[in-house]
Amino acid sequence: MSENRTAMLTKLADLDAEQAKAVNAGGTYMERHHRRGKLLARERIELLLDEGAPFLELMTLAGWGSSFPVGGSTVTGIGVVSGVECMIVAHDPTVKGGTINPVSMRKTGRAMQIAEENHLPVITLVESGGADLPHQKDIFIPAGRGFRDLTRASARKQPTIALVFGNSTAGGAYIPGMSDYIVMVDKGAKVFLGGPPLVKMATGEVSDDEELGGAEMHATTSGLADFLAVDERDAIRIGRRIVARLNVTKRGVTAPRQAREASYAEPLLDPEGLLDVIPTDLKEPFDPREVILRMVDGPSEGNEVAFDEFKPLYGPSLVTGWARIHGRPVGILANAQGILFSKEAQKATQFIQLANASDTPLLFLHNTTGYMVGKEYEQGGIIKHGAMMVNAVSNSTVPSISILIGASYGAGNYGMNGRAYDPRFLFTWPNAKSAVMGPQQLAGVMDIVARAAAASKGIAFDEEAGAATRQFVEQMIEEQSLPYFLSGMVYDDGVIDPRDTRTILGICLSVIENQPIEGNLNFGVFRM
Ligand code: COA
Repeated sequence: MSENRTAMLTKLADLDAEQAKAVNAGGTYMERHHRRGKLLARERIELLLDEGAPFLELMTLAGWGSSFPVGGSTVTGIGVVSGVECMIVAHDPTVKGGTINPVSMRKTGRAMQIAEENHLPVITLVESGGADLPHQKDIFIPAGRGFRDLTRASARKQPTIALVFGNSTAGGAYIPGMSDYIVMVDKGAKVFLGGPPLVKMATGEVSDDEELGGAEMHATTSGLADFLAVDERDAIRIGRRIVARLNVTKRGVTAPRQAREASYAEPLLDPEGLLDVIPTDLKEPFDPREVILRMVDGPSEGNEVAFDEFKPLYGPSLVTGWARIHGRPVGILANAQGILFSKEAQKATQFIQLANASDTPLLFLHNTTGYMVGKEYEQGGIIKHGAMMVNAVSNSTVPSISILIGASYGAGNYGMNGRAYDPRFLFTWPNAKSAVMGPQQLAGVMDIVARAAAASKGIAFDEEAGAATRQFVEQMIEEQSLPYFLSGMVYDDGVIDPRDTRTILGICLSVIENQPIEGNLNFGVFRM
């Protein structure tokens, strides 16, 4: 087995273990939940999806490295329900009663953004005790956006469906309240602004759960529930029937596009080989074509060449070109030797314009240490050329996907369409690292700054303390650059196995087609 493969398999085993923390976040409460005759969040999702349909789980590691359980007390992803790609957000009632903490809020907020950008129906599987009360200061004000997002989705004709399985208290009651369709499980759903204790405190009225917010009451008396389900499975069945009647059409699918998607060939090179060609030591360069040819469709009729490279002789440390993935056209920008020079920035700018001119989605494969610094390069205009690339990325309107396959440092992260530039999706490989710069460089810069500061104050630089600080800073930045840390902060949509990348890209490119794909040639002023 190659050294690269062994190292990557170790990282992947570790990733499995970290993801298992999200799956098992409910601990002993999972068994209690089953004893109560209830389904777990993931079981509900499995039943909701079409048989055999994949579920692209998103942001599984949200909350990693924080004081909150991994997963953010929700399970989120895109799945096919009654033939329609839907965004599914399921509360995990086994984690603090499914309550919403700051991590859950970031995760569901991002899920709503993905749903909006790709015009996906949103199905919420509700069972939540509302706000995680001890953390109310961090959620109360911003959580209002969740309800705003639901009602704005409805205004955009983006359907919203709430299947209520259990508690849906206080703010949580507005999740069904703001949804287009509401299904409630008899004897399970309890939807009220305030439960019996709160009502007693507020008005002195004595009531029980069922009369205050039971499913039957809402279906027959208040009219909040559109459907009364006899049990959880029935609620899921009704939910599937609702989606079947939404008359969803994919606005981005044109006749020629559909014809191309009908048949395609598997990649020229086996994706399994990615584990051999990707060094886990980021200092070792690798040829991105080795990655591209393991991701894109192999040659077939109408797609005679797997990867048509554009401008191969110019700016060689950025590879650009056209390919198809699962029959869907895509323009690819991939870093080659890590550094972006002026030529690479200009080439990227031109390529992004061409993709917009031909309404072709873009795929960015990050492995960059940033734009080149130094006298020669500053004098050669590296800032203005980098700015051109960032301008192109910022104002490009074709959908884009970014994958961090290696390093993603500094402004290189911006130019390559990092998270702040709103790619439709962004995933990370377990070997990737991302930060403003490398840990050693950052610690070194801080050291030089500290020495200069001491000199300007006329005091001696404390070498011992300086060395300790350098080591501390280096270690801290190293930890903060790792994929789990960034995923924990919801700066990506998930850490993925490199071998799954092609499948995930296929799903994402299909999801993207729910919106018209329209390029734009109105960019800001390019500083030439
Ligand atoms: N904030 C913070 N923690 C909460 C919580 C909340 N709103 N609701 C429940 N929890 C915690 C519980 O303290 C318990 O913690 P523990 O495991 O450390 O003991 C855990 O979540 C599970 O709660 P439990 O009551 O055992 O679960 P349950 O499934 O029997 O009931 C609820 C879940 C949500 C129905 C119930 O806990 C409840 O009514 N909570 C209050 C809901 C509320 O009034 N919310 C208002 C928000 S504005």
